[in-house]
Amino acid sequence: MLKQSDPQIYKLIKDEEKRQREVLEMIPSENYTSKEVLEALGTVLNNKYSEGYPKKRYYQGNAVADEVEILAEERAKKLFGVPYVNVQALSGSAMNLAVYIALLEPLKGKIMGLALSFGGHLTHGQPQSATGRFFKSVLYTLGKDNLLDFDAIEKQALKEKPDIIVCGFTAYPRIIDFEKFGQIADKVGAYLLADVSHIAGLIAAGVHPSPVPYAHIVTTTTHKTLRGPRGALIMVTDKGFKKDPELSKKIDAAIIPGLQGGPHDNQTAAIAVSLKEAATPAFKKYSAHIVKNSQKLAQELIKYDFDLVGGGSDNHLILIDLSKKQVNGAVAALALEIAGIVVNKNGVPNDTMPPFYPSGIRLGTPAITTRGMKTPEMVSIARWINEAIEESKKYQLPSEKLARREAFKKIKSDIKNNKKLKNIFLKVKEMTSKFPLS
Ligand SMILES: Cc1ncc(COP(=O)(O)O)c(C=O)c1O
Repeated sequence: MLKQSDPQIYKLIKDEEKRQREVLEMIPSENYTSKEVLEALGTVLNNKYSEGYPKKRYYQGNAVADEVEILAEERAKKLFGVPYVNVQALSGSAMNLAVYIALLEPLKGKIMGLALSFGGHLTHGQPQSATGRFFKSVLYTLGKDNLLDFDAIEKQALKEKPDIIVCGFTAYPRIIDFEKFGQIADKVGAYLLADVSHIAGLIAAGVHPSPVPYAHIVTTTTHKTLRGPRGALIMVTDKGFKKDPELSKKIDAAIIPGLQGGPHDNQTAAIAVSLKEAATPAFKKYSAHIVKNSQKLAQELIKYDFDLVGGGSDNHLILIDLSKKQVNGAVAALALEIAGIVVNKNGVPNDTMPPFYPSGIRLGTPAITTRGMKTPEMVSIARWINEAIEESKKYQLPSEKLARREAFKKIKSDIKNNKKLKNIFLKVKEMTSKFPLS
């Protein structure tokens, strides 16, 4: 037993369990997966090497691994309504890189994705990422209202002629019009890649429109709203096969030998378990509640005069621009953590601050909805967020770079003793204790 053989790691796991139980986990890309998913992860499937694909492996002894992988593929195909899926990408970043390896010539092929500071992901062609270093990339931004500006995106696509347009984002709180993206991609002859990592669960449950009729390729992580283990799916649609009948072969080859070695069979099994769960009526209900909670929370925050990017939320996440409140996002995230509300600091469109000290925070409802919280709890959470942000106003950061770094260090140590924030945590704990984790 781990408790006896490695008490240090055992204790750390128990500490993390306690933390996850006590706090309001509101990072929108996180969730509490089921015990069954965790059970599948911790099995002997971890011990096997299965390089290759079902029935075409480089190693012997893969009859069971083949069945596991085929089951995961079949469940994903059915859930999302696609003819092909690869379940081997080890996580989201590898999944997108594999798509670019499959379709683009290094240093020549061009990606057009949303800029990071406007809610795009690093792997959508940002210059800091391999996806922007090994391929050409151009970035689009949002319109003045911080919403997608399809006229501007079309104009830029016509000028830049990208090979792949990426839609699906990491900090966009509104519905994505995949049909419009599809029309633009078709007009310029580009592939449309919809990376629905954040909203895959909502799509599976039918509470967000699906990109499947409009995109050629759909990618998603499995551990966010889909509530599975860490992992990823790369899907090819009928439209994708019409454009390129070899698409699935290219993607398979991009994963192995292009990018990875053996798949993580225990992870594949856990993905299969989560896909079965995601096909249930209970999951549909859960996903509808994620959105309901997010919208209620947004409404309540607006009452406290918070400035929500995009004006509100249609999905699972809310992006708050704290400039008007004169609180830095990094300080706010620290303060909220002391108050037991775990969110992440985040850039906002046209942010004048650097990524480590951005002007906003990003929060979401997938994990707290898994615990069974509903709209009455959102009213209390908004009140506590407001109290914590008001309290944060006393922790101001200077604008000079070095002084700011020193001030932040001091804030980090001082804020731990803030009585008001610690008091909020007591109330949070009282609430979370009523919503036990299964
Ligand atoms: C839209 C999007 N794509 C890809 C990823 C990358 O996933 P991972 O962190 O598993 O590499 C993320 C992660 O946050 C994401 O939000």
